[in-house]
Amino acid sequence: MNKRRATITAVGHYVPDKVLSNFDLEKMVDTSDEWIRTRTGIVERRILEKGATSDLAVAAFENLRANSGVDPADIEVIIVATVTPDMFFPATGCLVQQRIGAKKAWAFDVSAACSGFLYSIVLGSQFIESGAYRKVLVIGADKMSSIVDYTDRNNCILFGDAGAAVLLEPSEDSEYGLMDHRLYTDGSGGDYLCMLGGGSLNPPTHETVDKKMHYLYQDGKAVFKVAVIGMAEVAAEIMSRNNLRSEDVAWLVPHQANMRIIDATAERMGLDRSKVMINIDKFGNTTAATIPLCLSEWWQCGKLKRGQNIVLASFGAGYTWGAVLMKWSLENPKKP
Ligand code: COA
Repeated sequence: MNKRRATITAVGHYVPDKVLSNFDLEKMVDTSDEWIRTRTGIVERRILEKGATSDLAVAAFENLRANSGVDPADIEVIIVATVTPDMFFPATGCLVQQRIGAKKAWAFDVSAACSGFLYSIVLGSQFIESGAYRKVLVIGADKMSSIVDYTDRNNCILFGDAGAAVLLEPSEDSEYGLMDHRLYTDGSGGDYLCMLGGGSLNPPTHETVDKKMHYLYQDGKAVFKVAVIGMAEVAAEIMSRNNLRSEDVAWLVPHQANMRIIDATAERMGLDRSKVMINIDKFGNTTAATIPLCLSEWWQCGKLKRGQNIVLASFGAGYTWGAVLMKWSLENPKKP
């Protein structure tokens, strides 16, 4: 009997209107457009001025609904990947469930930072492969501007806000959909990329705020060294496990933290830049939203085509990292 597989049957995304450019940042901290471009590849990022992560998630879902016509009442599970939930609890997934009117769905959050979307689609696909559910909504959304210190030039240049969503359903053809995955965790990386304040270890006090412990902390150089190897290795591993040559892969969909990490991964896979989805220049690092944001953008402009093999790859806080191999099944959007 053929294996029951999960596949993406709808995509959508949302980015806020407000643009924060490198030139804007030059006025806020001691940096330059030239430094940011050459070290990271980022030119601008989006900022959600009013509202929270659930607003990004709901707007991404509304775009998915407009693209697909899915009825929220049919959705059975909602998974929201985020490190910037509206609140510690209830889960942002619960807020989204209520706001989109997915009355039948149960909902929860996944905290795996920049790998949150990969962890979540692998998790969602298990629900479908097991036969337990047929419609799983997976959203990656982060309001990174809510945990970034805009006086810290090391980090404030890197991040932006966005939300993006995919719908997972059983694939009609077992040759399409999520074919394979490798996911990893190395908790020894925890000290290098974290938010120390606000949790049960350091509940918020005047002191934790004075020490800026409610902001994201990153030792960029330390993270860079492992990310550049980790993301390239896992992408190469998923190719070799599935006997794929570089010409068999239509797209690399990498997490967008730094252009140099993306280039190293593409090089390891033997892929030309023309086969790499890149939007870091426009949006910076949008954490859990990054990978579905690429999928949605590329699908909406007709560049992501049914039958293409795509490799999604990520590296993030935890450390968490991984890769997913997918054969894309969604037909191009209908022309208006
Ligand atoms: N503008 C100008 N100068 C800056 C700067 C900025 N925004 N940020 C840092 N600098 C300075 C540093 O202070 C340092 O100066 P010094 O040599 O006098 O101390 C110099 O630039 C080099 O800094 P360094 O940290 O070595 O830069 P880098 O080449 O490692 O790039 C990052 C920094 C953050 C862009 C890079 O390390 C990175 O992308 N890290 C990984 C991010 C990541 O993958 N995260 C995981 C997923 S979230």
